[in-house]
Amino acid sequence: MRKQIVAGNWKMNKNFQESTQLANELVNKVGDVSLDNTRVIVAPTFVNLSGVISATTGSNVEVAAQNMHQAKSGAYTGEISAEMLTSLGLKTVILGHSERREYFGETDAILAEKVNAALENKLEAIFCFGEVLEDRKSNNHFNIVESQIKKGLFHLEASAWNNIVLAYEPVWAIGTGETASPEQAQEMHAFIRKIVANKYNQEIANNVSILYGGSVKPSNAKEIFSKEDVDGGLIGGAALNSEDFIALVKSF
Ligand code: PGA
Repeated sequence: MRKQIVAGNWKMNKNFQESTQLANELVNKVGDVSLDNTRVIVAPTFVNLSGVISATTGSNVEVAAQNMHQAKSGAYTGEISAEMLTSLGLKTVILGHSERREYFGETDAILAEKVNAALENKLEAIFCFGEVLEDRKSNNHFNIVESQIKKGLFHLEASAWNNIVLAYEPVWAIGTGETASPEQAQEMHAFIRKIVANKYNQEIANNVSILYGGSVKPSNAKEIFSKEDVDGGLIGGAALNSEDFIALVKSF
């Protein structure tokens, strides 16, 4: 059965001490929550990974990176490889976030390489995609999402899908306070599951967790997460304080 996941993307927020403190708070509070089929993941920025890993070791809180470079190693000043992440003990990396696509020129082709590099290093990839507002307005959102998933992931063999988590994040809903309605999220998630089933098979489609992201907060999470094909959330703003984030975990 597919897992429910609440993943916090801390983006470029919090220094080393603040990140470690937030991780400590989460570890304390998540201890009270029953997590039968739910994973809790936090993604601090690279330089804060080691502190957050230390703070969460032995707890139910998993740690992920927000990005990585596709090359094995070499002359890529300022970049981080998959192997560097696994050497810290990480098991998960977020790839293709819309901010990476928009501000750092990450194309579908680059993301396909990043997915390959992550999987080769036994990292699970939380693969993000989603349409911008104009695409939604012109009713092109299904085409855009299908194309992003196809180009980023459909070259993979079926077995690779054990290590893929999908995150639908409509760009117009990220950090804007505007959320997709639970019905809009469900409609898109069901569509995504259908294209995965068509390309691979129903079992793979049923087993892949599909997260929704974009202005999820404690006040709207319950309704969104209750939809059949929504398996949790990728959370930005509301992941930056422990109370809101734990409230999101509890909303399952
Ligand atoms: P938000 O960000 O929750 O602040 O909208 C979501 C994301 O970018 O993953």
